[in-house]
Amino acid sequence: MTRGLQKGLTNYGDADFSLFLRKAFIKAMGYSDDALDRPIIGVTNTASDYNPCHGNLPDLLESVKRGVMLSGGLPMVFPTISIHESFAHPTSMFLRNLMAMDTEEMVRAQPMDAVVVIGGCDKTLPAQVMAIASSDLPSIVVPTGPMAVGNYKGEVLGACTDCRRLWAQHRAGTIDKAEIDLISGRLVPTVGTCGVMGTASTMACIIEALGLALPMSATAPATHADRRRIAEASGKRAAEMALSGSPKPSDLITHTSVRNAMIVLQAIGGSTNGLIHLIAMAGRAGVKLDMDAFDRLGREIPVLLNLKPSGTHYMEDFHHAGGLPALMRELTSFLDMEALSVAGGTIGDSIAGAQFVPGQDVIRSVAAPLKKSGAMAVLHGNLAPHSALIKQSAASPELMRHTGRAVVFDSIEDMAARIDLPDLDVNAEDVLVLRNAGPKGAPGMPEAGYLPIPLKLARLGVKDMVRISDARMSGTAFGTIVLHVSPEAAIGGPLAVVQTGDRIMLDVAARQIELLIDATEMQRRLAAWKELPPQREAATRGYAKLFEDHVLQADQGCDFDFLKHNGTSKADS
Ligand code: FES
Repeated sequence: MTRGLQKGLTNYGDADFSLFLRKAFIKAMGYSDDALDRPIIGVTNTASDYNPCHGNLPDLLESVKRGVMLSGGLPMVFPTISIHESFAHPTSMFLRNLMAMDTEEMVRAQPMDAVVVIGGCDKTLPAQVMAIASSDLPSIVVPTGPMAVGNYKGEVLGACTDCRRLWAQHRAGTIDKAEIDLISGRLVPTVGTCGVMGTASTMACIIEALGLALPMSATAPATHADRRRIAEASGKRAAEMALSGSPKPSDLITHTSVRNAMIVLQAIGGSTNGLIHLIAMAGRAGVKLDMDAFDRLGREIPVLLNLKPSGTHYMEDFHHAGGLPALMRELTSFLDMEALSVAGGTIGDSIAGAQFVPGQDVIRSVAAPLKKSGAMAVLHGNLAPHSALIKQSAASPELMRHTGRAVVFDSIEDMAARIDLPDLDVNAEDVLVLRNAGPKGAPGMPEAGYLPIPLKLARLGVKDMVRISDARMSGTAFGTIVLHVSPEAAIGGPLAVVQTGDRIMLDVAARQIELLIDATEMQRRLAAWKELPPQREAATRGYAKLFEDHVLQADQGCDFDFLKHNGTSKADS
């Protein structure tokens, strides 16, 4: 079996010369023949001055490298794209597939026997798992870990649930400019990912539940010594996997592990983005996620994790309460314990090692859950023939069954221009609709689904309204918000033909989202629908053109059609 430097030789038509040349160049870095003869463990470097969520990368790289060398391997660090939520235009989701392609191709192109991917900010972990699932080399994931909590006037703050809450108070006029500027210096006190159950934390939990990361990887704070020890242990494990050649991502991402991940996603009160990414990651391994099964699990699995935005605590509290293994212990009657873990045993083994922390209130039991049903519900109806999603654990109970008049915004720009106008015809009982904000429409399906409460209503104290869109929403947000309406308006989905003044009915218990017009009228409008005058120039070149031509809908994970697993789907196990 070829391994180490001999793998994937550059093609000069003479393999011996290719290896000779490769060694000649790498020796410029001072490596000895002994070092170059070791199994090679690639380690992704996603450090970037634009990415504070990865601000601990230098420390983690050192720890991973130490672990690799302790097991007799040679670590080789290489850069890939890094994406931060607030520094990606038009939206980080637009770049997720580019990062997945970059990571996959660099793992394939460069000689390595195993790879450690280190990521954290929302889109980076799913991009990396999509990449390793496609390249299928023995792989292990190291999340960068959550940041510490902030403090302001005696109140504990967590980015970014509290970013949104405090900004809403600023919009409503209860926090002035000077104070909000002060708060901006308190919300993100350390490097690391958002400290609530946003998308980054959700993805770290899902990935640990899939068995792709070591136990406790999801929760150890970015600046805690545990985080470095996990990185070192991951490096050691990767070197062992490089020698044994297993497990590969295809051994770990199975129907069984994906079902376990769906259970965890419901029980942690996870981000709605987590479902899109789980569909995409599973899809790369040939596992089709069953949306109806996900919804059924949501009726069965309660939310056990008392973390913002669904509850009150923060990621560091979750870690000190025993982390994901302790949460999964509460779910043993639902989970498949035989699913494999990259740690070398099964998920059951990881759970068996979970700590017991007396008196903690972060991880609830099934008998005394935070919420009786799961985080998310999958909706259907004439407005969302394929599906739509609502995070019911972060919604207002009194709006879970609601009928109201539609107030329609044709695009994000239209919404930004009109939502705060004093003469906007809107009442608290209305249903706000945003369209053309989906995968193709925006493009990139930005996190615009958290439509702000119109200023004139916010000033009257309105905190929540039913909002519907084909966009996504940050996992840190709160509200009665229907997302991921599929198919999206930009390709002629029914959202495209809603008119201001129509009535819309949401019934979460019945899993329904309906435009209350008769079927004939719906057909007439859909037949008459023409693509709206473009809100933007159509992409003509480069990655934007690739994205526009090939991105799939939300219910298919927004992957590119040509990147999906090209084998037959794995059989149900
Ligand atoms: Fe990076 Fe929240 S902005 S995890």
